[in-house]
Amino acid sequence: MTDRTDTATINAHSGAPLWLLAELTYRCPLQCAYCSNPLDFASVRDELTTEEWLDLLAQAREMGAVQLGFSGGEPLVRQDLEQLVAEARRLGFYTNLITSAQGLDEARIAALREAGLDHIQISLQASDPDVAAAVAGSAKAHARKLAMARAVKAAGYPMVLNVVLHRHNIDQLDAIIALCDELGADAVELANCQLYGWAHLNRAGLLPSREQLEAAEATTGRWRIRLAERGRAMDLLFVVPDYYNDRPKACMGGWGSIFMTVAPDGAVLPCHSARLLPMTFPSVRDRSLREIWYDSEAFNRYRGDAWMQEPCRSCDERHRDVGGCRCQASLLTGDPDATDPVCSLSPNHHLIEAARREADGADGTVGALTPRNVHESRIFCRS
Ligand code: SF4
Ligand code: FES
Repeated sequence: MTDRTDTATINAHSGAPLWLLAELTYRCPLQCAYCSNPLDFASVRDELTTEEWLDLLAQAREMGAVQLGFSGGEPLVRQDLEQLVAEARRLGFYTNLITSAQGLDEARIAALREAGLDHIQISLQASDPDVAAAVAGSAKAHARKLAMARAVKAAGYPMVLNVVLHRHNIDQLDAIIALCDELGADAVELANCQLYGWAHLNRAGLLPSREQLEAAEATTGRWRIRLAERGRAMDLLFVVPDYYNDRPKACMGGWGSIFMTVAPDGAVLPCHSARLLPMTFPSVRDRSLREIWYDSEAFNRYRGDAWMQEPCRSCDERHRDVGGCRCQASLLTGDPDATDPVCSLSPNHHLIEAARREADGADGTVGALTPRNVHESRIFCRS
């Protein structure tokens, strides 16, 4: 932890929170087993009101935030979404809706367009309707996603499709990219599952094997060539899972550096997973965003490098990756101050190697995954 002098020095050099992720609600009609929401989300009932969201949007913009993502849960569950989008637009944010498309229809797309929404990102679970239904816990969701992707495109939006990859859909990547192509996507995020929240709980059933991963990278490479030959502008972004890297990512560009999440109940977090950490995060109901960003212990705790343990403390790479991800370190080692075990220099790297070996030998079915729903979450709340 930083002492008072360190904190003052760090504060003087802390930039503005450029990115604000507004998690409007944890409510969601789907049950994706890879969700990064906290396991005990069912205990959060007291969502911020429309007025509270409007006030914090103004605060964030005044601090210099420019990018705004509306997320959840499913943000379309909130009937005030259009009102929040309109105000964000008036304040000068670039706005992005991150949605499963459940609750979307042509009328709502038109209303969001009228409110000034800049961008829509729809998630797809798979190309195969049965796999999609099993992962999302809904037989109807896949068809709605496809219909709404077409409607979003027809409304003139640039469209990003996001496909979370895991061991049950990664072998279908060829068909997944073909589907995205057919839907007219401008870009596709092929994001290997990040193992936080429900995804960490289901890790053994989600992490692909190295063989699957290598095949998927090769498929993506072939599609990039094919698309270029056709002159088709559809960017393919392939995100390798942390567990198959030897160096960690500079998570969120560094703790409290450019990114701020506000949870449905007003807790302000440096990343969307931070609620799993053994620490308390301040709420916009008690303090201003400015005070939280610059002066709270939570946001200052992992700024700079004074908090680092060895081997990070004396490592030449510490300013590039800032010691990796605090949430991952905490989940895997129980110590949020530890070097991220993804790093091959970490004394805990064997935990990552063991997970890779486990993935190579895994044979579970998609039905064995624990769904993210209120019933399961209440079990975690009780325990
Ligand atoms: Fe990064 Fe720490 Fe590994 Fe060095 S030891 S590469 S700073 S995680
Ligand atoms: Fe929380 Fe990386 S996801 S610090």
